[in-house]
Amino acid sequence: MGRIKLFDPITDNCEKNAINRVLESKFWASGAGNGEVKKFEGKFLKYINSKSCVAVNSGTAALNLALSIYDIKNKEVILPSLSFVATANAIIENGGIPKFVDIDEKTLCIDPKKILNSISNKTKIILPVHFGGFSSNLTEITKICKKNKINLIEDAAHSTGARYKNKKIGSHGDLVCFSFHPVKNLAMPTGGLISINSKNYKKIEKILKEKRWCGITNRNGVNYDVKNIGWNYYMNEFSAAIGLEQLKKLNHTNNVRKEIAKTYSKKILIEKKMLFDNECSYHFYWIRVKNRDEFREKLLKKGIETGIHYKPIHTFSLYKSKIKLPITEKVGKEIVTLPTHPNITKQDLEKVIKTVNKFI
Ligand SMILES: Cc1ncc(COP(=O)(O)O)c(C=O)c1O
Repeated sequence: MGRIKLFDPITDNCEKNAINRVLESKFWASGAGNGEVKKFEGKFLKYINSKSCVAVNSGTAALNLALSIYDIKNKEVILPSLSFVATANAIIENGGIPKFVDIDEKTLCIDPKKILNSISNKTKIILPVHFGGFSSNLTEITKICKKNKINLIEDAAHSTGARYKNKKIGSHGDLVCFSFHPVKNLAMPTGGLISINSKNYKKIEKILKEKRWCGITNRNGVNYDVKNIGWNYYMNEFSAAIGLEQLKKLNHTNNVRKEIAKTYSKKILIEKKMLFDNECSYHFYWIRVKNRDEFREKLLKKGIETGIHYKPIHTFSLYKSKIKLPITEKVGKEIVTLPTHPNITKQDLEKVIKTVNKFI
């Protein structure tokens, strides 16, 4: 039996053929986002049912661009610390101030009650992370946003195909940022996307499309203008072509992930573990253990990869502050992530459960 990987993209001949098609077309990328990129945006839009979608080349680019839509210079953005560092970096990149708020111990998503205590007259955005694909409490967060005239940008890097209250993630907040990094539920070599739900979505779409290609605007043949700064953040054709194939498989692969998570939640004999929820996309499955290093080492010796998601951002040198986030800090020391990808066989699953139960 080979090693059981923590993450493993699911591919078949469809992806191979898609890559070959793009390779042979010699049309590999365009700043304008034509070709496969445009097709992917259209299909993804239908899938999540939002007002507009703009594809980019990573989840990090999606966050950087989404935050650039609102003027957050010297303003505060509320976010959880238990996330990948890109969530907070995007705030700094845009001149904002990250304001970390503690998480709910059951879901490990930002706690809406604690958001209330952190709102100030400098708060401009709330940026929840749907941790592991488990949706943050968007009902409460949306209420807080409306009451305080704050915008909602979601970090949905783990949530492609997830739902909240029966609506796909991507169709709720003003802007929703996805990652299609190879380890994610919808995998590309690299990729990301911003979904737009604001009333002025057409205007935002135009600005995002300009910013993803160096600020280029008003193109007419070889003539164009540049009015604002922009970057090289556009998605390439290979990524989009793979993404189109991955999207066709997504409901099936997410259902397999859910079955794996359901089995873990029933059979892993530990109290502190991820809840089962049919709307979650289960990018990974988390448990909390006391003796983490030893535990992970023992699993690895048995051929089972595990992960740590995440070292809390406020503990990094760049973000160090006097802020205390007791639940995040406790979870940050105990969390271990287990594989949920659909390449796991029944025997693999049984082995993970048996081994975890032996060493907890
Ligand atoms: C929560 C979260 N936000 C943002 C990102 C950034 O996405 P990408 O790696 O596509 O830039 C990731 C990816 O690892 C992530 O897990």
